[in-house]
Amino acid sequence: MVKKHLYWYSILLLILLFTNACAAAPISPPYQPSALNPQGAGAARIAELWWVMLALGTAIFILVVGLLFAALLRRRRGTSDTIPDSSSNDTGREWPIWGGIVLPLIIIGIVFGYSIYTLAAIENPQEPPAVKINVVGRRWWWEVKYPEQGITTANEIHIPVGVPVQVQLQSADVIHSLWIPELHGKMDLIPTRINNITLRADKVGVYRGECAEFCGLQHAHMGFMVVVESKEDFDQWLSIQGQPVATPTDETALHGQQVFMSEGCVFCHTVRGLDDKEIDRSSVDLGPDLTHLNSRLTIAGASLTQNRGNLAGWIVDAQHVKPGSLMPNMYLNSEDLQNLLVYLETLR
Ligand code: CUA
Repeated sequence: MVKKHLYWYSILLLILLFTNACAAAPISPPYQPSALNPQGAGAARIAELWWVMLALGTAIFILVVGLLFAALLRRRRGTSDTIPDSSSNDTGREWPIWGGIVLPLIIIGIVFGYSIYTLAAIENPQEPPAVKINVVGRRWWWEVKYPEQGITTANEIHIPVGVPVQVQLQSADVIHSLWIPELHGKMDLIPTRINNITLRADKVGVYRGECAEFCGLQHAHMGFMVVVESKEDFDQWLSIQGQPVATPTDETALHGQQVFMSEGCVFCHTVRGLDDKEIDRSSVDLGPDLTHLNSRLTIAGASLTQNRGNLAGWIVDAQHVKPGSLMPNMYLNSEDLQNLLVYLETLR
């Protein structure tokens, strides 16, 4: 009786597991990036490989469990001759060779070959890149440069849809790894080395990327956004980002700019258009270029949404938000802080 109940319970459990998996909410970027929801050429290849591996793994699992049950049932029937006597039976001796060596070698060979094929297909794009981007990994944020346009930004990569984009990867300190699950596989950023990936996104949208190599205290807060947009929107973004920002005319913002200069922000953060010729940044660890800060979606390595409240919290208490980061807590009086925030909002 108990056994019968157990049987039905396990069937019910299996049904629940499957229905739950199927009823999972659709994955909506940027908050639940999944490599199984590919939106680009590289990620599609990787997802394909994953499904092939899952199918092979499942087939082998079913085979092994099937054999196990077959053996158990045969023993149960009480026929003693069902266990082959390996000393007198040649077929009994061949089993371990086929099942333990030949079959695994064939399966591993297929998976290995398919992995190499996938890797080669991802790394050898058919067309020359339409855009070139340099990404520098820093503790714990991403510096993003468009060398041909002279643009520097942070924690946000904009790319046009449907065309290959070359991303050159470097590190300023330790090993990081760039991963945009829906667009491409992981690639390490290694000090003294340059790595390259070719991104191609097939669908307009905002995708989240992460650092995928443990790089210290705030590794988990080293995210970024990839904004995939139409060619027109991308060109417009480039032209805006390429311009320096003008000196604010508003008095509050102007005072905020003075705070930015006098309180030391300017020593780590560049704002193109600001008169900072006397600033020597050669000996400091750079912070993000803030030229068009207010156009970005996030701050602090995509750990906070970009808005006035978060910015204020970050400026006065960065060590609480991201302990160990290079951004110090700024002890500003409330008037200076408010003015600084108004100034930062003019950087769009
Ligand atoms: Cu950078 Cu982990």
